[in-house]
Amino acid sequence: MAKNDREKNVRTQTTGPIGVALIGTKFMGRAHSTAWGKCAQFFDLRRAPAMKVVAGRNPEETNAFAAKWGWEHSTTNWRDILSNPEVELVDVSTPNHLHAEMSIACLEAGKHVACEKPLAGTLADAKKMVLAARAAAKKGVRTFVWYNYRRCPAVALAHRMVKEGRLGRIFHVRASYLQDWGGPDTPLLWRFQGDLAGSGAHGDLNAHIIDMARFITGDEITEVVGSIEETFVKERAVVANAGGEISGKGAKSTASGKKAGKSTVDDAVLFLARFKQGAVASFEATRLATGNQNRNNIEINGEKGSLKFDFERMNELQWWDHTLDPKLRGWSRIMCTDGSHPYAGHYWPAAHLIGYEHGFISQAADISAMVAGGSPVVSMPDFEDALKTQCVLEAAIRSARERRPVPIRELDKF
Ligand SMILES: NC(=O)c1ccc[n+]([C@@H]2O[C@H](COP(=O)([O-])OP(=O)(O)OC[C@H]3O[C@@H](n4cnc5c(N)ncnc54)[C@H](O)[C@@H]3O)[C@@H](O)[C@H]2O)c1
Repeated sequence: MAKNDREKNVRTQTTGPIGVALIGTKFMGRAHSTAWGKCAQFFDLRRAPAMKVVAGRNPEETNAFAAKWGWEHSTTNWRDILSNPEVELVDVSTPNHLHAEMSIACLEAGKHVACEKPLAGTLADAKKMVLAARAAAKKGVRTFVWYNYRRCPAVALAHRMVKEGRLGRIFHVRASYLQDWGGPDTPLLWRFQGDLAGSGAHGDLNAHIIDMARFITGDEITEVVGSIEETFVKERAVVANAGGEISGKGAKSTASGKKAGKSTVDDAVLFLARFKQGAVASFEATRLATGNQNRNNIEINGEKGSLKFDFERMNELQWWDHTLDPKLRGWSRIMCTDGSHPYAGHYWPAAHLIGYEHGFISQAADISAMVAGGSPVVSMPDFEDALKTQCVLEAAIRSARERRPVPIRELDKF
């Protein structure tokens, strides 16, 4: 099919299933396959996704993955997708250094792109992706970024409460994303290689809490005031296949006795920042906080009240109402599973808890609704939006390396 016909095809198609292709078959490959497969069951979608093709690297594994997770076809050449007229949207779930090349090629082929976070490993790549997204947008082609935590009912509720003015003026944002799988025994996965990942805990984890802080407050970070970047484990065991599960599960057993390679990313980054409307903020990301396995954690203090969220108790939002009579004030635990909470009504009855995959299912549903001309339940980051998070990531790294405050306006120009 000629390029112009493909573009026309995308612009004019408004009915029937949305043909989806996925690139990447491991951690996010599984999470996203669940999401595309289940979203039309939990949500009433005008156009449901159809799982057309999955791209991986190993033919047997990719074939088996397709059969197991419900993809019609598999390929080991992701570029096959570009000329496939059945594919309207491409889901890029590969390591960070591939996001730009894959997303830009797909946008140029007239496909909508849903790319994993961080938008890219580097700010330069992220800007190239935004330029491609701007050009594609003129032809009706859209972009989406998998900042999935926005779609946890508790996080979406926090966003709505701030929007309703329940916190009043915001003074503090205190966010940390703490994991503990990155100790010295964890091998040199792609996540520890700067040329593939861009950064370590920073782009992996701070990216999420920067996005969450921006989303919940509805405000933008204007300056990173100071930052620390630390690599505790300088060398890690080299393994044959550095892809795979997040903790290098499976790779661990093959690591002993093999040669060591240099880790070229941070293990932890902590920084302080200012928001446009005056709030001050702290962010911390680490893979070495033993005892914290996936503690994506944010607290916001406003003049009328405070909110706390911790992903390890993802169904709950803590709320302090400072407008109450002082003798009645106390933290209340909102179980965000009621039909009136964002997204929750699509799943189970109250207090029948949801889990990790539901944020992805809700995001796949919102993406499908948007491709069909509808609106998401809460705002959806596109490439342009995710660039703002990428600029904050870059500002924190510059601040740590150059030991100075870094204003965002230094970075966001093209
Ligand atoms: N939203 C989230 O919460 C979240 C969580 C984890 C990871 N991520 C992001 O998702 C992306 C992927 O991470 P992951 O944990 O799934 O990594 P992973 O190592 O588990 O999987 C990466 C996949 O990419 C495939 N791949 C690599 N090069 C390829 C190529 N040239 N062609 C086709 N496939 C190729 C690998 O075969 C593998 O299937 C990263 O950008 C990461 O930051 C997001």
